[in-house]
Amino acid sequence: MAKVKKQFFCNNCGASSPKWVGKCPSCNEWNTYVEEVLVKGDKKDERRTWREENQRKAVPILIQDVKAGNTQRVVTADEELNRVLGGGIVNGSLVLIGGQPGIGKSTLMLQIALQLPFKVLYVSGEESEEQIKMRTERIGLANAECYVMTETNTQNIFKHFKNLQPKVMVVDSIQTLSSPHLDSTPGSVSQIRECAGELQRLAKETNTPVFIIGHITKDGSIAGPKLLEHIVDTVLQFEGDHHHTYRILRTIKNRFGSTSEMGIYEMRGTGLQQISNPSELLLSQKEEELSGSAVAATIEGLRPMLIETQALVSTAVYGTPQRSATGFDLRRLSMLLAVLEKRCGFKFGMTDVFLNIAGGIKVDDPAIDLAIVSALISSLQDIAIPSDVCLAGEVGLSGEIRAVNRIDQRIREADRLGFKHIFISKYNIKGLDLDTFSIKIHAIGKVEELYEQLFS
Ligand code: TYD
Ligand code: MG
Repeated sequence: MAKVKKQFFCNNCGASSPKWVGKCPSCNEWNTYVEEVLVKGDKKDERRTWREENQRKAVPILIQDVKAGNTQRVVTADEELNRVLGGGIVNGSLVLIGGQPGIGKSTLMLQIALQLPFKVLYVSGEESEEQIKMRTERIGLANAECYVMTETNTQNIFKHFKNLQPKVMVVDSIQTLSSPHLDSTPGSVSQIRECAGELQRLAKETNTPVFIIGHITKDGSIAGPKLLEHIVDTVLQFEGDHHHTYRILRTIKNRFGSTSEMGIYEMRGTGLQQISNPSELLLSQKEEELSGSAVAATIEGLRPMLIETQALVSTAVYGTPQRSATGFDLRRLSMLLAVLEKRCGFKFGMTDVFLNIAGGIKVDDPAIDLAIVSALISSLQDIAIPSDVCLAGEVGLSGEIRAVNRIDQRIREADRLGFKHIFISKYNIKGLDLDTFSIKIHAIGKVEELYEQLFS
């Protein structure tokens, strides 16, 4: 009988130890070690399970002599996916897609598999072929060369991969895979680490892009060791609100492009629809002008986007005033409130403040500050901001309006969407050719000036 070997693994960084330890010596996290059953690993070499027979031996070469052709990209029909991947799928890359259950990860990957014009292998450990077929019919796309397979054993997957030679492989999900070389259960730290490593070698050695779907834990990080995110080339997060139909695909890590990109989809009855014009979706349709709402001209990644911010300021019912922000950093909100209180004399000390960014989107762009400040003043004073006004500027600690990047793109987008006035920092005006825009540009230097020009 084979000897069962046990080992302890750190849930956080994937480090191993022959006995349990309270504090991981490698990442210093407490209480992260779990026990797992390991291999009867007598033959070490067998664990290198994906190996081409005629594997190229690595030798040092001059960087000038390296051919750039190896990282050619496959440009897909899905513009949003191309964008988050930095311009298309890079050959030989390993891409991890994480997201809440039911958000649409499997739908997205199946849809992409069906859109690609060549041989694709879709491996599912979660659904049967019939279920995938049902979904395919729902999506209504057809790729004559899309193969599906329900399999969880990595060795079998590799065998079929070799026979089929697909151009792209999708694995749903890494937590269901198991390598026969380990005895631990699927989804355990050692299995995830081993399977991800095997897939990585497969992707690199055959120069085939591999997509893997990963589950996420309650606090939003990808389940399994943090190591998984280090192994893969790109980490994408698929997020959204179950009450809203739109979904955001965000780049968390990308070895081949920028990490500030995002793609927007809408979940319809017939699959995910790309949203190429997000501003129209994020500006709420309302009949009359209401106080407490202001439109920000933001940039996410390379794309300008107009987003509505909403504030509600009301008298605090309880002793301690409440502060609540959705889609915006709460500490930044406190800072903006303090600036308004100190520099302009607005009293927020005894009021509850609620802030909301439309569409459940999370915005990091500092240019949204000016719209938030305006929404706060508008709600406090109960004066509506005209609906043809938008704003872009960062607010500093002394109430100064600071310049933001790529202001011309923001102005052009606001212009295109029919806004008549835009408020920007006076430090942004330099170098702008004002005659090319039909929108009226208001340059301001301080929060006080904003109040004078917008509310009186
Ligand atoms: P799914 O891709 O199974 O999510 P995940 O793999 O992330 O767990 O998505 C399932 C949800 O998407 C389900 O609640 C139904 C919905 N959906 C649609 O609204 N329209 C569609 O065309 C499809 C295929 C799914
Ligand atoms: Mg799924």
